[in-house]
Amino acid sequence: RDSATAKRTEGNIVENFLFYNPVKIIFGKESIKNAAREIARYGKKPLFIYGAYSIKKTGLYDKIVKILKENNIDFAEHSGVKSNPVLSHTQEGIKKARENNCDMILAVGGGSVIDEGKAIAAGMKYEGNVWDFFNGTANIKHAAPIITVLTLAATGSEMNAGCVITNEETKQKLSAHSPKIFPAVSMLDPKNTISVSKEYTAYGVIDALSHVFEGYFTTQTDSALITDEICEGICRTLIKSMNTLKENLLNYDARANVMWSATLALNSLQRLGYKNTEFINHAIEHSLSAIYDIPHGAGLSIVMPAWFKFQISKGKTKRIVKFGKNVLNIDGKDDKAIAKETIKTLENWFSAIGAPITLKEVNIPEKDIPKIAENAMGLINLWGMSYAKKSVEEILRKAA
Ligand code: NZQ
Ligand code: ZN
Repeated sequence: RDSATAKRTEGNIVENFLFYNPVKIIFGKESIKNAAREIARYGKKPLFIYGAYSIKKTGLYDKIVKILKENNIDFAEHSGVKSNPVLSHTQEGIKKARENNCDMILAVGGGSVIDEGKAIAAGMKYEGNVWDFFNGTANIKHAAPIITVLTLAATGSEMNAGCVITNEETKQKLSAHSPKIFPAVSMLDPKNTISVSKEYTAYGVIDALSHVFEGYFTTQTDSALITDEICEGICRTLIKSMNTLKENLLNYDARANVMWSATLALNSLQRLGYKNTEFINHAIEHSLSAIYDIPHGAGLSIVMPAWFKFQISKGKTKRIVKFGKNVLNIDGKDDKAIAKETIKTLENWFSAIGAPITLKEVNIPEKDIPKIAENAMGLINLWGMSYAKKSVEEILRKAA
């Protein structure tokens, strides 16, 4: 699913891997001061992409327009990217980029804006329907250069080679992947995330945790110790920083640590040497946000505890116990009890930071479970996972 190509190895040993990540990260206060120089390196006329209103409210829009104008950089605008970005708006963006002769993308926002920017960058260079890249009909062979200014710490899109778009007609939320859509440059100023609401700050942290979890808890090798350490360190930092932000959303260092942790949580470093990992919680969550348009992080805080309980019910506790001991300081003699306590602790923490842990809390009725599972099977099959619809329904019932 990302830039690390797994090469199958036998036994409980560190998996062979190829790691490639060419994204230039410019991190810190006022990092957008580098924008004009970086844009000039990659193109002449960016399509400036952003969301509904947040960058206008915070003043970031004005700052960027000023930089572009002062440096005589011509640009076109594509605003109104929805959270959980949709295909029709992506297609409009491709049309706009062509009509205005744009040769690169400047995406300013959260994961949704960056993802739509990546899809437009690939779609601009493709004769067919951009959806082909998502449903497996075509591979991305070319894309316009992408520069991002991140305003919400969550997805890791700023330093990875994936993007997620929802086809609002078919209710499919699918992803496309290609080294061609790595951003060339991402500017990460923690100050640009200070205005993110308490809810979205929590959803972002949960999304970042989930990216670590998918690898850490599904790997079939216990030997990739350095990757285990990286994962545990990212999780400890996210939890600690979120606890600080819960009391004070303005804390710069906590914002900075969340921002960089979330980037590291899905730039492939978090899964090097792991074996046969599965993005199962994402496969199920994408159905929730595709059908009910709930925030991705909120969907994950509902699905993950249920999936953990499913794992425990199947006796798969080893990795949960390791995490509980190393990250949450949970101790005891009985592994099953430690695993249960670990999940209870996580679930309580999700609630304490304001995230839902049941379908009911986001008004999704239990009777919809077969429909959600049916939708999830599309992605489960596309990503080559071995879950049956019956198991997905069982997981979802644990979240009812
Ligand atoms: O639209 P605006 O007005 O900008 O408001 C946004 C939006 O309502 C707001 N926001 C963003 N920055 C802000 C801010 N509000 C105040 N101050 C700021 N500085 O926050 C809301 C959510 O933004 P969004 O971009 O949707 O959130 P997020 O970054 O969580 O992105 C979610 C999307 O990314 C996909 C998700 O599925 C979802 O579609 N993912 C992308 C991945 C990837 N490319 O690697 C991996 C993930 O697993 C995920 O699937
Ligand atoms: Zn995610």
